[in-house]
Amino acid sequence: MLKYDDYAESAKALCRALGEFCPEVLIILGSGLGRLGERLKDPIAVPYGDIPHMKHSTAPGHAGRFLAGELGGKSVLLMQGRLHLYEGWAPEDAAFPIRIAKLMGIEKLIVTNAAGGINTGYKPGDLMLISDFIKLNAPDPLIGPNIDEFGPRFPDMSRVFDRRYMLDFKRIAEAHGEKVHEGVYYYCMGPRYETPAEIRLMRVLGADAVGMSTVPECVAARHCGMRILGISLITNMAAGILDKPLSGEEVIEAGSAASERLSTYVTEFLEAMDTDA
Ligand code: HPA
Repeated sequence: MLKYDDYAESAKALCRALGEFCPEVLIILGSGLGRLGERLKDPIAVPYGDIPHMKHSTAPGHAGRFLAGELGGKSVLLMQGRLHLYEGWAPEDAAFPIRIAKLMGIEKLIVTNAAGGINTGYKPGDLMLISDFIKLNAPDPLIGPNIDEFGPRFPDMSRVFDRRYMLDFKRIAEAHGEKVHEGVYYYCMGPRYETPAEIRLMRVLGADAVGMSTVPECVAARHCGMRILGISLITNMAAGILDKPLSGEEVIEAGSAASERLSTYVTEFLEAMDTDA
């Protein structure tokens, strides 16, 4: 298991690679959504492989590097590609970048992902602000000796996602004529898609969308007290809702199609963000 000193060593290595640049917001980009990086002014790229203890990203549509630069007037650190449990990484590996960001002084997190719509009022291309999550049978990144420097042994999870951030993002999207859903994200480890029976069960449990990411990072981020905005792009309807099989290509394509739109909202959200709050 990773120790506090391992995180500190990695945070130092990333700081060194960024030189004078001090990011204040971490943004994690989901499948096909990596194009936000094109909007960064004078970006500095740091491959995950350059950071000690950091695992690399093997998922399609995930470049596997940090990009640091200015966006919407804020100094941001982007992750082009995240680490998933289905790649064989441990939950603490998926949460690792959050903790090094925290040690670099970052207190704010924006996470995006591709998700399957469970709520039949949703359609592919819709955006859903994550209001809460369900993770029942998957291991947690906080399992193991607690690292007290990050947070308490039994952290509260009654409000993982920041209400103020949700309202601000909604206002911005609505000003562009887009209605944004608010819903519950059901975390599955993957890599296989769900069965129709599993999706029916998730609906009964109160889930609106399903995906294979985001939750390990958000657990670690809440543990260390970060403010979080979570955005799901509904790339497909979940298994069994439509009479067709699911495919990874469809998810990447839908992600790419929405990338520009989502990038605009995130940029405007950053412009409006009060970094002192
Ligand atoms: N299920 C799980 N993960 C996903 C899906 C899905 O339907 N779509 C995009 N990511």
